[in-house]
Amino acid sequence: MTLNTEIIHRNRPIAVFDSGVGGISVLQHIHALLPNETLHYFADSRHAPYGSKTPAEIEARCFEVADFLIGQGAKALVVACNTATAAAIAAMRTKYALPVFGMEPAVKPAAEASQNGIIGVLATTGTLKSAQFAGLLESYGRHVKVVTQACVGLVECVERGELHAENTLKLVAQYCQPLLDQGADTIVLGCTHYPFVRPLIEQVAGSRVVLIDTGAAVATHLQKRLAALDLLTSRGEAGRVWFWTNSEAKNAQQVIEELWGMPAEVLTLQVLPCR
Ligand code: DGL
Repeated sequence: MTLNTEIIHRNRPIAVFDSGVGGISVLQHIHALLPNETLHYFADSRHAPYGSKTPAEIEARCFEVADFLIGQGAKALVVACNTATAAAIAAMRTKYALPVFGMEPAVKPAAEASQNGIIGVLATTGTLKSAQFAGLLESYGRHVKVVTQACVGLVECVERGELHAENTLKLVAQYCQPLLDQGADTIVLGCTHYPFVRPLIEQVAGSRVVLIDTGAAVATHLQKRLAALDLLTSRGEAGRVWFWTNSEAKNAQQVIEELWGMPAEVLTLQVLPCR
């Protein structure tokens, strides 16, 4: 590779995707840490939630979205979804030559943080049923009691932008209470949609319970790996952030902007081009 093509390669976008808008919670950490990178975010909202799909269905979605993002010039892919990581990260790393980053529920940090040795994990059914999660428990959950709770319907609340709605609070209470009743002093937010209802979780769990989410750790890991691969941008100015969504909701742009916290450049795709 000549110097010029290396620079062009380094200045290509980092692509981030999720079953929907939840991965924006990870994108925020990436943008804060790597402000000069161009970021492409794909919300596969038409196919959310992934949590109730089979691993084969999730893998097919991941391939389709990743093919699209790579077609847009991505230099690295971040699977900002615990459910998709559990179902498809191995297959993606086999299929694609570019670096692929995933995420998993923070069982290890939670086990280290817990004072009483009881940790709760809020996640999707798909994540909790996965072999990857079983492996995490095996590696880091042996010396603590791990209480898990699938949060059916919560992803959809965030997708609709209902971050403070009565119904969302009811679901949060319904899912957190069993963990609290069993004594959890630390709760893992094992789905990237959940940081957006963190205030509700805090309201239910109280200030003594520690909440752990992995967005910041993913961003730090991404920065270190890209630096090691000499793939960080050489641009000295702020990078642009682009959003794609295939949501059919009329308020898709509004929901993305509410979660992102500022005006966003959102492109709506009706169908993903097939390759
Ligand atoms: N944000 C995804 C995760 O981290 C949610 C999944 C879903 O669509 O069910 O697991």
